[in-house]
Amino acid sequence: MPLIECRKLTRSFKKGTSEIKPLDELDLDLEAGAFVALMGPSGSGKTTLLNLIAGIDRPTSGTLTVGGVEIGGLSRGALAAWRSEHIGYIFQLYNLVPVLTAYENIELPLLLHDLTKAERHAKVSTALELVGLVDRHDHFPRQLSGGQEQRVAIARAIVASPTIIVADEPTGDLDGQSALQIMDLLKRLNKELQKTLVMVTHDPKSAAVADRVLHLEKGRLVGEPDAVTAG
Ligand SMILES: Nc1ncnc2c1ncn2[C@@H]1O[C@H](COP(=O)(O)OP(=O)(O)OP(=O)(O)O)[C@@H](O)[C@H]1O
Ligand SMILES: [Mg+2]
Repeated sequence: MPLIECRKLTRSFKKGTSEIKPLDELDLDLEAGAFVALMGPSGSGKTTLLNLIAGIDRPTSGTLTVGGVEIGGLSRGALAAWRSEHIGYIFQLYNLVPVLTAYENIELPLLLHDLTKAERHAKVSTALELVGLVDRHDHFPRQLSGGQEQRVAIARAIVASPTIIVADEPTGDLDGQSALQIMDLLKRLNKELQKTLVMVTHDPKSAAVADRVLHLEKGRLVGEPDAVTAG
């Protein structure tokens, strides 16, 4: 059974009297351990799909099953708990808390879990080591380069050992060299730590690092052999 299963997954918004449908009856299976790049024009529904998979948003209709759990069927509280256990989210603009150090930013998701300070310290240290920023642990975001900020954000995304990492244009704001470093790191998370990765990107070089590339257009998958095409 696939880890992530979308069936006729639809998200729509009412706008006055009309309706926009960023996701339109999408069918998709993603296996555990997959590294998937999601591409497509602006407004094609990439972030919408990512937010559904991450449990930040809910489908309007259709089903989304992750690890056997139907996300749409969870209560608000259950969804929040599910998210903190299973999802790590990486954003284009890092979304670090400016008044917290690198260490404290990484520690943040762990505060949702029942851990002692020593247990949190061990996990934050491991994450800092993984992203190569042990020597920057007491720096504030403004004292870091963009690439370093993104590495802190990656450490924060993985510190609670989630099953799935979603990344929305993680290299979108970085220079080529830093982007390469970030892609190397994501590849390692996938290959060495067996994290399932779903990454939105506009950059073909970044997409090439993934094992599978999906193209979204107007809320539907295109060009995939198993994609459901319009008609
Ligand atoms: N909460 C919302 N309310 C109303 N419309 C929304 C909402 N979220 C997304 N949309 C609309 O859904 C469509 C798809 O948005 P989405 O953010 O998924 O696109 P995207 O593929 O990520 O684009 P980009 O590459 O620009 O980030 C857009 O037309 C957007 O305006
Ligand atoms: Mg987007």
